[in-house]
Amino acid sequence: STIDWDVVGAEIGDHAHYLIKEIQEQPRTIERALKGRIDERFETAHLGGLNLSVREAREVKRVKILGCGSACYAGELGAQLIEDLARVPASAEAASEFRYRNPVVEPDTLYVAVSQSGETIDTLAAVQELQRKGGRVIGIVNVVGSTIARQVDGGIYLHAGPEMSVAATKSFTSTVAAFALLALHLGRMRDLSPEQGRRIIAGLTALPGQITEIIERSEMIAGVAAEIAQSRSVMFVGRRRGWPVAREGAQKLKEISYVHAEAYPSAELKHGPLALISPEMPTVAIVPDDDLLDKNTSTLSEIKARKGPVIAVAHRELPAELADRTLVIPKNEPELDPILMSIPLQILAYHAAVVLERDVDKPRNLAKSVTVE
Ligand code: G6P
Repeated sequence: STIDWDVVGAEIGDHAHYLIKEIQEQPRTIERALKGRIDERFETAHLGGLNLSVREAREVKRVKILGCGSACYAGELGAQLIEDLARVPASAEAASEFRYRNPVVEPDTLYVAVSQSGETIDTLAAVQELQRKGGRVIGIVNVVGSTIARQVDGGIYLHAGPEMSVAATKSFTSTVAAFALLALHLGRMRDLSPEQGRRIIAGLTALPGQITEIIERSEMIAGVAAEIAQSRSVMFVGRRRGWPVAREGAQKLKEISYVHAEAYPSAELKHGPLALISPEMPTVAIVPDDDLLDKNTSTLSEIKARKGPVIAVAHRELPAELADRTLVIPKNEPELDPILMSIPLQILAYHAAVVLERDVDKPRNLAKSVTVE
């Protein structure tokens, strides 16, 4: 289908930066990622471009996802979606690492290359290495007709419109939504029940409205960003689905504000980084209201015991003994919550960069697509 340039085009309009424009476009870009792909009758997803027969898709024993930067973090969420909904073992890895370790390529593994631009050299080289060894590769790509889009055996276009700012935002959330569709598709031809399929479809359909609610709370997030911007270093923590969200949040902050940030899986804190926690080092914690809530709140207690300031992204306001600030977001289905949880972190990074007067859309030393090694 064609891109509707008027809706999510390349014009900056009244916005101060492309980045905030692209953050605010997400209710519409998610709609576009879903458009025409939801099958209400059979509670599944239609993905016309996959080039995979039902029989071939049923024979997939594993899924391996490759990409660079934010595309790789979106892939980590994709792997969890595929394992959760389709019960097919899945993992994600940086394409740049994969391509250089003489990877074992298996005929019953489905390989997925993720790239907004479709031009990243390491991702392209990984695709070519896979195909040379007989691997079947599908792409999750934004730019129609890009090199990777043409190289792969099939795929899913994001239809998110041009992403101008160097830091990925709308392409990240659309990629995760595309993975949710792929997981639903693979799940419903296996053991995911119609009820479960309906639950995921209802969740996907609710996303645009919920993203709008988060964007409407930007002013509160900007207040927190002004505090964060004064720190030398910020820790991001999350567990399971919250872990890739934390990685992406840390990436956004460091790349556009130049405030040092690092991400850790919550339970790994005590294996080293807890030594860094002090009143000078705030922690941004992903704390969804799910079956791991108790585990996550106990991590917050450990941080507060070291007098570390805590900013929580959660489904309800946390008490003062656990968090100094809570960025409250609407609740969707647990599998889809990461899409919503990543948005306040984009807004946080944006406002920190603005406070520090950074070159928001063109951070130093970085390029939108890395086409040379
Ligand atoms: C660059 C960009 C990132 C992006 C990465 C992968 O480093 O600055 O925002 O995530 O490349 O780009 P791709 O186009 O392959 O998704």
